[in-house]
Parts: sequence; C-alpha cells; structure tokens
Amino acid sequence: MSPAVRGKVEIFPTSAELTAAAAERFVAAAEAAIAATETFSVALSGGSTPHALFAALASPEYASRVRWPCVHIFWGDERCVPPDDDASNYKMARETLLDHVPVRDANIHRIRGEDAPEDAAELYERELRRAFETRTGPPRAERGARFDLVLLGLGTNGHTASLFPQLHAVRERTRWAMAENIEMLQMWRITLTPVILNQAAEILFIVSGREKAAILRRVLYGARAINELPAQSIAPVDGRLSWLIDAAAATELPSK
Ligand code: 6PG
Repeated sequence: MSPAVRGKVEIFPTSAELTAAAAERFVAAAEAAIAATETFSVALSGGSTPHALFAALASPEYASRVRWPCVHIFWGDERCVPPDDDASNYKMARETLLDHVPVRDANIHRIRGEDAPEDAAELYERELRRAFETRTGPPRAERGARFDLVLLGLGTNGHTASLFPQLHAVRERTRWAMAENIEMLQMWRITLTPVILNQAAEILFIVSGREKAAILRRVLYGARAINELPAQSIAPVDGRLSWLIDAAAATELPSK
C-alpha cells in the first residue's frame, strides 16, 4: 500500500514507552525554543490520552528539565464549560501538570469555556494574536510568532482538537479560533483551526489504544478527505509533523 502517511510515524511497544517518548519530545522542543527566544509556546491537547504525558512532565524526571517560567501554555481546544467542570481540558491540565510545575499564571492562556462560545473564541484569538505579535492578518511561520509545539489527539471519528467532521472550522481560511456546536456531543466547543495549527514549528499527534487502530489507518493511509477526517487537515506549512503511536493503536497499520 502506497504510504499516504502525512508526517513521520513512530510506534512504541507500550503506552508507557509512548508517554516517555512524548515527554522527551516536549522537553526537547522546550529546550530548543527557549534557547532561541527565551519562550516556549505550546498548545496542549485535551481528552484522556494526555493525562499520562502531563503526569510524566510533572514528575521530577522531566519537570526538572524544563524552564517552566519561560513556558506559555495554550490549548488546541476547550469544551464550553466552566474551568472547574470535570469536562474542562484546562481543569485536567491544571490537576495533572500545571499545579505541579512553576509555570507563571500570566503565561497560562486559558480558553474561557464559561463565556458565550463566540465571545470565548474571539477573546482567545485576540490573546493568541497578542502573544504572537500578529494583531491582524495571517499567521507568520517565524519563531516567537507561532506555536513551538502543538499536541494533538485523534478521536475515533477522525476529529482532532475540536475539528469534527463536516464543521466549518475544518475548512476555515482566516480565523485562528472558532466556536462550534458539536451536535453529536450536544456540546459547544472552542477550537483552533488549521490556519494557526499548521503554522506550528512542530506538531505531535499522540495516539494510544486498540480503539484508535481503524481510524488511524484511514487517516494515515486512506484517501484525503478532510471533511470526513479532519485530522488530515493537519499539515504543517514548514514545521515537523510526527505521529507517536503505541502498538495497540498501530495494529491495523500496513506492515513495512
Ligand atoms: C478533546 C480533545 C480531542 C481529543 C480526542 C481524543 O477536547 O477531547 O482535544 O481532540 O484529543 O477526542 O480523545 P482521547 O484522548 O480521550 O481518546
């Protein structure tokens, strides 16, 4: 099968080894960005997969290797719920990572899920544009003006961040953040769009578990169909795209 793979695929025998590899990539990206600009801007993913990574980054083994006061935390997406709601990606990141490392509160750029969705999306985009010194116009693929690292997960229906099948946000050409009503979930969400995601210096998909095997094969090796498979809309302009996958999620990938 001709590998239509979008990005470099790295398969790890266990989820623990996947987590360790993702933590190493986070530390390396932070070291490189901070060495170049004294800051590291990272967009965290949500859902359950990142729990283990965030806990690892909060552990002495990894936390001691990141200059947290230089780190700016963003999110790839957020559920439109208050920050203390169990569904909040911010709450999960706070509890597993941010409360355990010396990141500055001013550098935590939370998406205000408690606000009206459109207001939250507009406010978040303004905050991103201020951080990247790009008040108007398209994003710039320059250090300091884009994410140094974006972490993404993969949903079993091919979504990533909150770019769900058939949503306008998947095809958006100018806005960096959008509010979308996810009918299948009966929930509003705020999501970054491919416009800003694809400007990142590095994008890591982290995919774990047997339940992701079928969708992973379609996204990596299937025909390009971004409306059905929004994860395929992630194609860095000039950054590095990697898929860090455990063996369980890789069970349906073509053998070499
Ligand atoms: C979210 C995430 C979403 C997630 C996938 C995978 O807010 O839920 O941003 O894109 O990464 O749905 O979720 P799991 O890691 O829970 O499988």
